[in-house]
Amino acid sequence: MGIFDWDEKFATGNTLIDTEHQRLFAFAGSLDRATHDDDAEMVVGPFLSNLIEYTETHYRHEEALMREVDYPDIAAHQRIHDDLRSRARALETSLGYGKSTITTELMAFVKEMRLRHIAQEDKRIADHIRKRASL
Ligand SMILES: [Fe+2]
Repeated sequence: MGIFDWDEKFATGNTLIDTEHQRLFAFAGSLDRATHDDDAEMVVGPFLSNLIEYTETHYRHEEALMREVDYPDIAAHQRIHDDLRSRARALETSLGYGKSTITTELMAFVKEMRLRHIAQEDKRIADHIRKRASL
């Protein structure tokens, strides 16, 4: 199983957020495959614009969800989003300068989004929603 294969254990139960997480897994998975096939140079530009657009809309949706469910650590979570958003934009600037290590950096970035952000930080929102539903 690849690290970008969707697993129900990442589900928050919120259809919009889960669909967007699945979308990230799908497009990160194709970048991962392109890296192995040495096609990364061709896909990295469109991938990054996709990723930036994704971080803008998806994090906005997630932040709305946190407010809706009275998530207690919203400020901290929002700071992590701000950091991820600005790092995605910094990667785009590096790409504009033709930095050759961009693919490796980009892959490390999406892996962090998947392994740390979705699997740990977003999971805490999911746990909060479940706990709240069972009260
Ligand atoms: Fe998040």
